[in-house]
Amino acid sequence: MNTPTGAVLVMGAGSIGCWLGGRLAAAGVPVHFVGRPRMLAALRQHGLTLTDQDGGQLLLPAGSLALHETVPAAAGTSAAPALVLLCVKSGATEAAARALAAALPAGTPVVSMQNGLSNVPLARQAAPGLCWLRGMVPYNVAELGPGRLHRGTAGVLAAEDHPALRAWQPVFQAAGLPIALHADLQPVQWGKLLLNLNNAVNALSGLPLRAQLLDRDLRRCTAALIEETVALLAGAGIRPARLSPLPPGWLPAVLRLPTPLFRRVAARMLRIDDKARSSMADDLAQGRPTEVDALQGEVLRLAQSLGRRAPVNERIAALVQAWPQRPQPYSGPALRQALGLRG
Ligand SMILES: NC(=O)c1ccc[n+]([C@@H]2O[C@H](COP(=O)([O-])OP(=O)(O)OC[C@H]3O[C@@H](n4cnc5c(N)ncnc54)[C@H](OP(=O)(O)O)[C@@H]3O)[C@@H](O)[C@H]2O)c1
Repeated sequence: MNTPTGAVLVMGAGSIGCWLGGRLAAAGVPVHFVGRPRMLAALRQHGLTLTDQDGGQLLLPAGSLALHETVPAAAGTSAAPALVLLCVKSGATEAAARALAAALPAGTPVVSMQNGLSNVPLARQAAPGLCWLRGMVPYNVAELGPGRLHRGTAGVLAAEDHPALRAWQPVFQAAGLPIALHADLQPVQWGKLLLNLNNAVNALSGLPLRAQLLDRDLRRCTAALIEETVALLAGAGIRPARLSPLPPGWLPAVLRLPTPLFRRVAARMLRIDDKARSSMADDLAQGRPTEVDALQGEVLRLAQSLGRRAPVNERIAALVQAWPQRPQPYSGPALRQALGLRG
């Protein structure tokens, strides 16, 4: 593809980075992947296979992938990427931002495709010379095996509206990555965060997402986390965007429905294939740091800014942090009890 736009650099070739970069590369965009040795070795050996819940499959042979262990120095050269997608986990944001700033020309647009709301402010503080933009990935992408990524849910990407991104919109569309641009992305990020509050429940349950959502006790845990957060958002005058078929304020009541009714009312929410799981579940399973501070932590910071508490989110964050001492899944009733939920 002859893009009006130039090359894309994916910072953090993991699940999301490989998905977005792989689809762009398959559409003919020059894409550079910066990643860790484990992932790069898998990509060099197996290439990249992208599958999705709709039966789609894309294969990118290893030889077609531009793989890098560090950000290729591009400041002052014609090799500078026109767009960077920041796809590391939240805990790696500041280091990644500094690495980008050391290699790229000032003003390079970098879109954070990460969950949570604090990554862009943190990155901007670490690397003020780059042009930081907020982005949002609505769907789940899981690593099924070496070089094999699978999109297990659906949705449309979002980012904040900026001239640098408008030229990319048709390119992303052609790559099967439709992206909506918003004047203010924060309500969208809060809407996504409300759904991501389930990540901790999913991770602690040890179940695939669909199976976990079909367990009423576990849904009640998620309902309590969302309810608590929606109340805080209302107190702060923030209206979270609707990212699921249901308005955010309805989610707690719907999640608490008996399962046969929930199956009917939330049929679209349950369009998740059996392979999908939250990335926090992978993090716990592999003993890696989780993004609980970027999710529940954000709720706790909002509560603090209002002089209030968020006890359910506080408790689940503590359970995730204590996981290495108790590495065994919680049943629905056990998790409800641990969160202090009754009724
Ligand atoms: N996966 C999903 O379904 C999904 C959906 C929506 C949004 N998100 C968000 O997208 C972000 C990325 O998630 P993910 O699931 O794609 O994570 P991931 O699979 O862990 O991918 C991130 C990759 O970046 C690597 N990395 C970290 N620092 C780096 C650096 N300085 N240079 C090069 N590579 C570096 C990581 O290596 P190490 O692990 O060795 O550090 C890892 O391989 C998160 O904020 C997540 O919340 C994920």
